[in-house]
Amino acid sequence: MSADPVRPGPVGDSHDERTERRLWLEDVLARLHSRYVGLTDGALADYIPELATVDPDRFAIAAMTTDGERVEVGACDHRFTIQSISKLLVYGLALEANGREAVLERVGVAPTGERFNAIVLDDADNRAPNPMVNAGAIAVTDLVAGDGVDDRLGAVLDVFERYLGRRPEIDEAVWTSERATGDRNRAIAYLMLSRGILDGPVDDTLDLYFAQCSLLVTAADLATIGAIIANHGADPRTGGRVIEPTVARDLMTVALTCGMYDYAGEWAYTVGIPAKSGVGGGILGVLPGAGGIATFSPRLDEHGHSVRGVNVFEELSRDFDLHLFDPDRPWYR
Ligand code: DON
Repeated sequence: MSADPVRPGPVGDSHDERTERRLWLEDVLARLHSRYVGLTDGALADYIPELATVDPDRFAIAAMTTDGERVEVGACDHRFTIQSISKLLVYGLALEANGREAVLERVGVAPTGERFNAIVLDDADNRAPNPMVNAGAIAVTDLVAGDGVDDRLGAVLDVFERYLGRRPEIDEAVWTSERATGDRNRAIAYLMLSRGILDGPVDDTLDLYFAQCSLLVTAADLATIGAIIANHGADPRTGGRVIEPTVARDLMTVALTCGMYDYAGEWAYTVGIPAKSGVGGGILGVLPGAGGIATFSPRLDEHGHSVRGVNVFEELSRDFDLHLFDPDRPWYR
């Protein structure tokens, strides 16, 4: 393999500069793809049986810059279930619809240092700890208003449509599988109901939570969502507003502090990119002001994160100074 490509300096908006940046990014992502495609460590999620039936070898890396340049390497059109990455979008919906104060009454913003499905609540304030772990995400989903599951799912799909320009399909087999095996989530939800953190009807909220996790997206979709959040809520392709800048800021904050669960501290320390993972194999990263990066590869580590994905993000951050607090971080504005 030849030497790593030289990173272009801060670039402007001329056609040539944008082309130079896109070619550079393509080269970087293609190299990462070929470096990690042989890595087969990790295992498919099997606690939801349907997730254990996916092809373990697919691998995609996608990026979109805040000026709308897109780069895709590998299986970027392959659809997989978004799983916990949906928590970010639905948290945005809850913030918009209810306001920050009302949401904070039900769900805090403190990292737990525990697994995503830990049975842990914020006892001092009688709320879920944060919106990225299951407890908090279920409490956030409870806040999605509507008349029955279909209507509330419509509100979630409306949000996805704002980001993606289309309503994603639902993987019915995964949804059914989640329902059939979701007793731990039921336990968490009923505990919160008993404490008055959820309003209910709790089975509807759980069904909606299982549905949002079963929505089908691609790595390219995740990069688009990341770029919109990174662009402070405006779609880089159209300039249209998708979410308010204050909501984008809150999403980036909880992604950085809580998005990677019991690996969040280590992730913030070593990678320093706000990110959210899902047990379907996706990781969505947000480079504030610069763009979105997404990986897809379904073999997971012990924290429930894609093994190849974590490697890609670690290497990208290290080699290109992408840590949020790195003084050499490029394209910062
Ligand atoms: O709650 C669950 O078990 C899943 N539907 C979502 C979990 C998930 O994606 C955890 N993230 N890595």
